[in-house]
Amino acid sequence: MTYLITGGAGFIGSALAHELVARGERVRVLDNLATGNKKNLADIVGRVEFVAADICDLPAVERAMQGVDYVLHQAALPSVPRSVQDPLSSHRANADGTINVLWAAKQAGVKRLVYAGSSSAYGDTPTLPKVESMIPNPLSPYAVNKLLGEYYNKVFHRCYGLETVSLRYFNIFGPRQDPTSPYSGVLSLFITKLLNKQTPTIYGDGEQSRDFNFVANAVQANLLACIAPNAPGNVYNVGTGSRYTLNQTLAMLAKIIGVEPRAEYTALRAGDIRDSQADITAARRDLGYDPKVTFEEGLRQTVDWYRTSGAAAA
Ligand code: UD1
Repeated sequence: MTYLITGGAGFIGSALAHELVARGERVRVLDNLATGNKKNLADIVGRVEFVAADICDLPAVERAMQGVDYVLHQAALPSVPRSVQDPLSSHRANADGTINVLWAAKQAGVKRLVYAGSSSAYGDTPTLPKVESMIPNPLSPYAVNKLLGEYYNKVFHRCYGLETVSLRYFNIFGPRQDPTSPYSGVLSLFITKLLNKQTPTIYGDGEQSRDFNFVANAVQANLLACIAPNAPGNVYNVGTGSRYTLNQTLAMLAKIIGVEPRAEYTALRAGDIRDSQADITAARRDLGYDPKVTFEEGLRQTVDWYRTSGAAAA
């Protein structure tokens, strides 16, 4: 089978590329290298076809779609605060880019498209865990444009019969997550700071919680979503079902790394939500999803990777 991974040079996209190559599948990556990096594909170079293009460039996306069976649409400008700073760029990449990918996939007659949605769709509703049937309450431009992508998925399934599945990622972390941007995921920042004997920053009191999910679990969800018979047209939470506060997480990491769990506490971030935790009943039932890597094991593997890859170098 031939897979097109948009954003395949990014953190989650490159993890998908590694797994598909290991399974002997044909992989084409489309990436504009805005937040992705070719380094993420260095150990499978020559085994993936790389297309340097932007998902906003429809003709380029149409060309990349030729001969493709499955699309794993990961390309996006991530980060809630980035979208608050620059909502137009966030909308262009995440909303306009997504409709281009859907349109090209429909025209090319691909078998199925799996979309990287976001748990930010739930917003700050007090009910935990979050179930897919809840009414969305997006609180940032990022949450709005990621949710729009889900709606387009559903509509492309209804109107054109394109098989689409949306996965709502809950704070994915792991090897190859880029720690160098102020918009980087919190765990990549905590780990690299602690490894470099620097003090991580916590926005707020650190009692906000997240359902942190190791990247291998998200990869599993994507590949199952390509083939699950009842999945098209639906949205699924891709978390673990548990949650940890930032303070707890910092303490766990400090223990793994062997340093003091110190942090600098500062003002809350605009657009942030308090708590997040997935109900994964639907993904278990329809996809056969089973997040095998626990939070603690994922943290260990991630720390090992930053240590040995040199990615934590200050
Ligand atoms: C959000 C989405 C997630 C999406 C991600 C994309 C929610 C619940 N989740 O993650 O689905 O994939 O955006 O970027 O909305 N923080 C610190 N110190 C730091 C960095 C962050 O304390 O140095 C805090 C943040 O204020 C936040 C938490 O850590 O409370 C997590 O932040 P981050 O890793 O950016 O992810 P979310 O915004 O939760």
